[in-house]
Amino acid sequence: MSPTELAKQAASARELAYAPYSKFKVGATVLGGDGNTYDGCNIENASYGMSMCAERVALYKAISDGQKSIHSIALSLPGSGSPCGACRQALHEFNPSMRVYLADERGLIHHETTLNMLLPHAFGPENLV
Ligand code: THU
Repeated sequence: MSPTELAKQAASARELAYAPYSKFKVGATVLGGDGNTYDGCNIENASYGMSMCAERVALYKAISDGQKSIHSIALSLPGSGSPCGACRQALHEFNPSMRVYLADERGLIHHETTLNMLLPHAFGPENLV
């Protein structure tokens, strides 16, 4: 699947966001190495700290479905935001080199980067001795 298609899918996933508190809807789509895709949206809670980001919903859907290789992720959100620190760390675990496509609400990509760029000098599995 092309980055453009991935970002469009993230924009569709965004429509399912449950964000009644922040009103800030985010969608994410993870592309697995085998071509399968996994959608996520942010899911908030009246107990605010229980809220979950779109990226981790999509990533954990992929992993829990048995996906062994994470190729890339596209995000759809308003403005010029990028993954939060917690999501960067969660994504790093599975592929520090993955490409990250940042797109607007319509799924138009405005920035392309890699996880290594977003989280330099990361702590990873190789650091556990
Ligand atoms: N959020 C995400 O889902 N992903 C991000 O990359 C940034 C923030 C969510 C969390 C919360 O539901 C809302 O956006 C506002 O922070």
